[in-house]
Amino acid sequence: MKKLVILISGRGSNMEAIVSACSREGWPAQVAAVIANRPDAAGLAFAALHGIATAVVDHRQFPDRESFDAALAREIDGFTPDLVVLAGFMRVLTPGFVDHYAGRMLNVHPSLLPSFPGLKTHQQALDAGVRLHGASVHFVTSQLDHGPIVVQAAVPVLAGDTPAMLAGRVLATEHIIYPRAVRWFVEGRLALDGLRVTLTPPEPQWLFAGHTAGEGA
Ligand code: GAR
Repeated sequence: MKKLVILISGRGSNMEAIVSACSREGWPAQVAAVIANRPDAAGLAFAALHGIATAVVDHRQFPDRESFDAALAREIDGFTPDLVVLAGFMRVLTPGFVDHYAGRMLNVHPSLLPSFPGLKTHQQALDAGVRLHGASVHFVTSQLDHGPIVVQAAVPVLAGDTPAMLAGRVLATEHIIYPRAVRWFVEGRLALDGLRVTLTPPEPQWLFAGHTAGEGA
């Protein structure tokens, strides 16, 4: 039985999708804890309701990133996880923290990486005029929003899209690809070779959430 620790900063809808898929699909895994860097993270209530241990390591209580990351790592390691899952965890992590979890920490980012790292990815996509946008699940490296890509989902950018509309379309795909990626890890099916991630046995490491003709433009 693999142990997962999920880190959130807010709503936690990706965490919910992973918790739900884990129990619905009977993964050989257990969500050991959900940890937030904000006491008001809404997702903590969902986790508690589902009998999952919760903890808060409030970044505002620490003088610098190093001391926050050290306290966070202590809290995480108390649950001896096989995998750390960043699910809307909005903190820049120190290289020491990232190294500690090398090869066993995943993140979801709302863009088709390596395009649009950082914040406001949906606005960035609209400004750049791309016709396809999406989400990426990747292993975390010390370079922000960069690292070996496990799976990506693409969605069309439609005429009249606002950042919020695009965010909703992308988030729906995150809820599909992130549980899928975590499940692959738990099943021991992922191998890393530099920036490449191979899945054995293979299946598509992408999703295209297309729209039917006539919808949008
Ligand atoms: C998600 O869209 C996730 O991709 C994004 O924050 C949102 C969290 O939603 N993460 C990042 O931007 C990380 N760079 P959630 O709390 O409902 O899962």
